[in-house]
Amino acid sequence: MQIGITGATGQLGKLVVEQLKGKVSAENIVALVRTPEKAKVPGVETRPFDYNNADELPKQLIGIDKLLLISANEIGQRERQHKNVIQAAKKAGVKWIVYTSLLHADTTTINLAGEHLATEKELKESGIDYTILRNGWYTENYTASIGGAIAGGAFKGSAGAGKISSAARIDYAEAAAVVLSGDNFKGKVFELAGDIAYTLDDLAAEISKQTGKDLPYRNLPQEEYAKILESFNIPKSFAQAIAGWDISASKGDLFDDSGELSKLIGRPTTSLAASVKLAL
Ligand SMILES: NC(=O)c1ccc[n+]([C@@H]2O[C@H](COP(=O)([O-])OP(=O)(O)OC[C@H]3O[C@@H](n4cnc5c(N)ncnc54)[C@H](OP(=O)(O)O)[C@@H]3O)[C@@H](O)[C@H]2O)c1
Repeated sequence: MQIGITGATGQLGKLVVEQLKGKVSAENIVALVRTPEKAKVPGVETRPFDYNNADELPKQLIGIDKLLLISANEIGQRERQHKNVIQAAKKAGVKWIVYTSLLHADTTTINLAGEHLATEKELKESGIDYTILRNGWYTENYTASIGGAIAGGAFKGSAGAGKISSAARIDYAEAAAVVLSGDNFKGKVFELAGDIAYTLDDLAAEISKQTGKDLPYRNLPQEEYAKILESFNIPKSFAQAIAGWDISASKGDLFDDSGELSKLIGRPTTSLAASVKLAL
């Protein structure tokens, strides 16, 4: 049984490979990577794999039984890129695709949902067995801003009192490894999120507690928050997207209390306190 992992040099993909190595032999893992010089996992075969190279993809998937398709990171290009991969998998005889989608992709107001839903549809219509991992937000999306927040004297955002059920990348990676190494998950759509939801007020309080500094949360209108992000050299369109995702968070779009992620990995998801500690 050969298991292929796309995006294996990315932050999530690397963790999936590591987790999977604890569950199956390294010889059964194939890292499918856009940038081969970034991939150095002892014992794991690496094959070049760029979602844009539609003609090249089928031959790189020969012999792969199960494929983890990690969603790409070029917003606006992903429907086409993921379609290339699914079509190639069909040609190569891949039997099962596991796809990393977005939490509540069918109901969320987060503007990333369209590309994920299109890929879910493509997958369901492909005739290949599938499992969909609708991943919630990574806690790291917020903890990455801790340094800037401390320097600026406040944690800023536009998420209001929205409850955020994020989990650490490692939790989602472990879930993917469980699904890839198991046989019971065909046709399932998992809503994956952290066990304990928090607001950005709670996050700022946790940072204050751990640093001994008084760090308030400052909620800002979307435009104002986007401008602040731009001042940190984040391109305008991406800054506006990030602020927009916080607005979705304020409406509860990052909340989930299904507990499906902790059930899948057989342990509680990483706590906010642990993620803050790691980031600090
Ligand atoms: N749930 C969340 O909070 C959240 C946050 C951010 C992103 N995401 C989504 O989850 C995915 C994984 O997250 P991450 O943190 O691991 O992101 P990441 O570190 O940016 O990794 C993305 C991976 O996708 C690969 N990739 C991008 N375009 C590709 C292409 N055309 N062909 C082949 N590979 C391609 C990258 O290859 P290289 O190594 O060569 O660059 C990289 O390995 C992201 O790509 C995005 O779709 C989710």
